[in-house]
Amino acid sequence: MKFFFSIVFGCVFFNLVAQSPIIPAPVVYKTGNGTLFIGNSLTINPINLPEEVKTFLKKELTLYFQVNSVFSPTSNTLVRFKKIANTPPDFYSITVNEDILIQYSSNQSCFYAANSLVQLLQGEPDNYFITKCFVQDYPKFQWRGLHLDVARHFFTVEEVKRFIDWMALYKFNTFHWHLTDDQGWRIEIKKYPKLTEVGAWRDSTVNGHYTDEPRSYSVKKYGGFYTQEEIKEVVQYASEKFITIVPEIEMPGHSRAALAAYPHLSCTGKQLEVPGLWGVFEDVFCAKEESLDFLKDVLSEVIDLFPSTYIHIGGDEVPKTRWNECPKCQKIVRENGLKDGHELQAFFIQKMDEFLNAKGKKLIGWDEILEGGLSPNAAVMSWRGMEGGVQAAKQQHMVVMSPGSHCYFDHYQSDYPNEPLAIGGFTPIEKVYEFQPIPAELSAQEGFYILGGQANLWTEYIPNMAKLEYMTYPRALALSQVLWTETKPSFADFKFSLENYHFDFLERHNIHFSKAIHAPKMHLERSPDGLQIRFSADKNQFPVQLKTTSRIGDSVEDTSRIYKENDKVEIARTVGQELVAHTLELKGNMTDVTTAFRIMAHPALGIPVELITKPAPQYAANGGLTLVDGVFGSKPWRGNEWLGFDEPTIELQADLSRTVKVDRVVLNFLNDPASWIHLPNSVEVWVSRNKKRWKKMAELQQSKSSKENGVKLPTAFYTSNKGKGRYIKLIIHAKSEIPAAMPGEGNKPWTFLDELVLFYRK
Ligand code: ACM
Ligand code: ZN
Repeated sequence: MKFFFSIVFGCVFFNLVAQSPIIPAPVVYKTGNGTLFIGNSLTINPINLPEEVKTFLKKELTLYFQVNSVFSPTSNTLVRFKKIANTPPDFYSITVNEDILIQYSSNQSCFYAANSLVQLLQGEPDNYFITKCFVQDYPKFQWRGLHLDVARHFFTVEEVKRFIDWMALYKFNTFHWHLTDDQGWRIEIKKYPKLTEVGAWRDSTVNGHYTDEPRSYSVKKYGGFYTQEEIKEVVQYASEKFITIVPEIEMPGHSRAALAAYPHLSCTGKQLEVPGLWGVFEDVFCAKEESLDFLKDVLSEVIDLFPSTYIHIGGDEVPKTRWNECPKCQKIVRENGLKDGHELQAFFIQKMDEFLNAKGKKLIGWDEILEGGLSPNAAVMSWRGMEGGVQAAKQQHMVVMSPGSHCYFDHYQSDYPNEPLAIGGFTPIEKVYEFQPIPAELSAQEGFYILGGQANLWTEYIPNMAKLEYMTYPRALALSQVLWTETKPSFADFKFSLENYHFDFLERHNIHFSKAIHAPKMHLERSPDGLQIRFSADKNQFPVQLKTTSRIGDSVEDTSRIYKENDKVEIARTVGQELVAHTLELKGNMTDVTTAFRIMAHPALGIPVELITKPAPQYAANGGLTLVDGVFGSKPWRGNEWLGFDEPTIELQADLSRTVKVDRVVLNFLNDPASWIHLPNSVEVWVSRNKKRWKKMAELQQSKSSKENGVKLPTAFYTSNKGKGRYIKLIIHAKSEIPAAMPGEGNKPWTFLDELVLFYRK
């Protein structure tokens, strides 16, 4: 872009600093000499100041900074605004010298400038100042989104507004409001009052993680909905913060709440309740005309409430079981020459696409809408990785990237065992920061179709505002950075800004956020006798007190000590030794437990494991060492402890360094069908002295007990057959496809492994 001017009003700003206090970092941030004193009041000239920006500034300064804002149209105010022409609509600049000049091209960019200005304030009440600087800024992507699921748990109008407030601070501009799902219908539709009379309420909610066994429920009426007046109020509120709300009405799946209200819209017509369990359900909207007409009526009312160009129709996770058995659906399949359920889904979506287009709107849906052929004008939101988005962009369809690997904020964000319950997965802030919405495999022309990116807040395990904020922040800051600045600063620079400015900024706003980025990290390496562990922490966190207990059987020994940077701890290959390490931050006389790690020693600890079949890159963790690092994969899974494969056959080889008698082989798998992760069909074990001739030792059997030598392994496969050799080869045969009536039926399943335990004698 050509509108750079770095010399303004005779003052030269010379110092290009990547560590700007502003997040997302502006395109240009240069500091000058000295600071501009603000004290406890800011005089602002209201000429050329849009009303929304004035409201924002006044509230922000008064409420969160205790700075008095004085609006006065005189020449000696500290802050002045100037509207400029011939710049892109999102462009603004701020010049802080002896006073502050904000130049902007639209009300929206003036709002962005005001947000940046507030982030430039440093110091304390009564003593604020701003480092003299020059800021020039505009965004990279036009869709900078956060999503919120209000179906699994309901958030009030006031809470939704608060969520929108925090989005605006970080220059997000799209709020994807997930208004309907199996567990609740949350938007009043005048023509169909039962949607909220019946569909907005469930009688119970599952406790804990929904894969816990045995399952239990909290039997209590739960729900809520927004009236159309409330929806209008939120849409207006968001628009004053330059945020577009994209509503989502889920179809044809995730529709149990609607079907509970109007059972005749399903294939079977059976009366079903609004479920209190999470997951994917087989009952979906029937593809018959009556159901399509109902949905068009619903969309008509939705369109009248939301001025957004895009309307999200869901489209994800649609089991085809009912359609395959339904005479009405099958008649549509025959009459339209459709091949299968996928094509029937494409037919369904196309009808909605035509309807929305006729109303001047555009359809967007989750990437399953690609299956069976993409409707001509549909945009795709890619969540099952980036592949769906890549395919859609290559077909010249608009795309929003929202892959689970980087953008699912319902995943765990740290290893800390005290992390509150999450759905599973592992998406620490570092991972969010790595997100690249335009994958390298797209050409520049294809990249044009990527509108931007979005993080999703599914709320099965987010029952209240405090947890919603905890899961969103500070990961949302990393995403805002990814989506805003053409040249993203290094993670270290981002972290500097986060820790030195934004933790305070978030606290000021009473946002309940995670400090996981601070937590010391454990690093594991192989050593001749087992493992060596090392801890890293921020420089100012050392020394770290490492409180360790070693347990062999019932004997527990306290081996705590103070660790300095680069200190190492050895853990030998012994049976049943457990080491629990708590890192304690020393704060004067006080200590604060920051992390806890658990390592269970076993005879295969740290042995070389060669992965002949490579894991998927996003689930490659620490390679072969992951399987023998004494850190046992947990459930709900956190991604980094497990190796994940999507291959039909998985082969790996372990080296015991000399020929030994093998007594027992145990390999643990994850069984989590909701995440498409399945147990294998079979596992072969082979032994060899020389890697040339192999002898089949056994097929592993699924263990009935959940414990192996005191270690809890939920789905261990084992054999007690004996063998002799130096090398052990495991050949895992995965299921060929996800079985019928399971989430993702017909797709390739995932196989997740951890840990491999071998017992042997010399
Ligand atoms: C999704 O996460 N089912 C879109
Ligand atoms: Zn049907």
